[in-house]
Amino acid sequence: MTNQTFNMDSQWLPFTPNRTFKNDPRVFTAANGMYFTTHDGRQVLDGISSLWCVGAGHNVKPINEAIKKQLDTLDYATAFQASNPKAFEAADMLAAMSPGDLNKVLFCNSGSEAADTSLKVALAYHRARGEGHRNVFIGRERAYHGVGFGGMSVGGIPANRKVFGSALLPRVDHLRFIHDPVHHAYINGAEPQWQEDILTELENRILPLHDPSNIAAVIVEPVAGSAGWYLPPQGYLKRLREICDKHGVLLIFDEVITGFGRLGTNFASDYYGVVPDMLNFAKAVTNGVIPLGGVICRDHLYNTIMQANDKAPEHAIEFFHGYTYSGHPVACAAAIATLTHFKSEDLFARAGSMGKVLGDTMHAALKGLPNVIGIRTLGLAGAVELSSLVGLPGKRAYDIFMTCFHKGVLVRPAGENLVLAPPYIVDKAQIDVMVGVLADAIKKHA
Ligand SMILES: Cc1ncc(COP(=O)(O)O)c(C=O)c1O
Repeated sequence: MTNQTFNMDSQWLPFTPNRTFKNDPRVFTAANGMYFTTHDGRQVLDGISSLWCVGAGHNVKPINEAIKKQLDTLDYATAFQASNPKAFEAADMLAAMSPGDLNKVLFCNSGSEAADTSLKVALAYHRARGEGHRNVFIGRERAYHGVGFGGMSVGGIPANRKVFGSALLPRVDHLRFIHDPVHHAYINGAEPQWQEDILTELENRILPLHDPSNIAAVIVEPVAGSAGWYLPPQGYLKRLREICDKHGVLLIFDEVITGFGRLGTNFASDYYGVVPDMLNFAKAVTNGVIPLGGVICRDHLYNTIMQANDKAPEHAIEFFHGYTYSGHPVACAAAIATLTHFKSEDLFARAGSMGKVLGDTMHAALKGLPNVIGIRTLGLAGAVELSSLVGLPGKRAYDIFMTCFHKGVLVRPAGENLVLAPPYIVDKAQIDVMVGVLADAIKKHA
């Protein structure tokens, strides 16, 4: 269908400039494989897996069929005091594919809910151990953990917090950011090597300030995604694990973006060889087709909370938390089909190998273009960073995003960055198109 018109008056669009959207709307009416169809009948390459979700590409028949079948079998059933076979099976698959003894899956519906759920598990765990005073959370500057009050509090993107300051959690601190623009502007698949150990700040300032005995958890994205694909320094995550262990602090990895193949491995945790105490997921677990998120917890968290209730009456609930749609059978059927499809098509390995192509192409085509001050690539994702327009932060990236869209490629503006993170099914010719269109747009807005 082409040139459809809409009444756009009622929808308040998320994370979008609503005042100007109608002047030049981006409206998708269909999608298949790597491409969208727009309301005016154009084909647009999905260069960002629809916000890191659609790893397998759009309109994947086995996923669609699984959802349809589930709708005709068990459409929905309450999640409290009951469960369903698909929730058991999806949890089993997730536990089996996660590293170490990350074995207990709490389902929710989004990355934001996963963030809040993981913070609440941390509090409940420490309380169960008789350390209820551990209620300080450590996030990181420029982190994104969604938009709930917990996730926003440990998050560190200033614009996401500015208006809501008074409602943030009171006992939160932030690690410094992981980027060194002078020495690590251009990184292609490698781990940035710092001259200094940026975690000394955690040991020398943050832990003594709050006292380690009061700290519940540290939460980080293994690779900082929403801020613009910033990579951790070499050894950073391992050392963070060691520091947390030393002080009895839980470590949470928010793998909402990095989970399910983006780095060529099941999780970033596998890529970096570090097992957190909790691993948050969402997005690609269902190929984005149906909302599903969750937190995979290590055995000791679950066991501690259960054991603390040993003497409680049989009917007593151990953890007062959950969502109406936790373990929704249709979402879990979608997850089972998605994870099965990823495996049968070996798509994580493909993400790894196409990631090399994306990295090489971005560095070759974009380095040296006007205003480009950095390019960071790892796995099947990359960001090109531009100098800011004076007085108009983010404007250059926004203009480039719009131009790319008009030229048939969806890219993601993130601050002064443009991010590419295509579905794992992407081929070299499509990468050339994406990067070529991005290069032209960068030149146009010089
Ligand atoms: C690392 C991370 N955590 C949490 C979220 C929030 O997820 P959602 O939008 O599903 O609430 C995102 C979203 O991009 C994310 O990248």
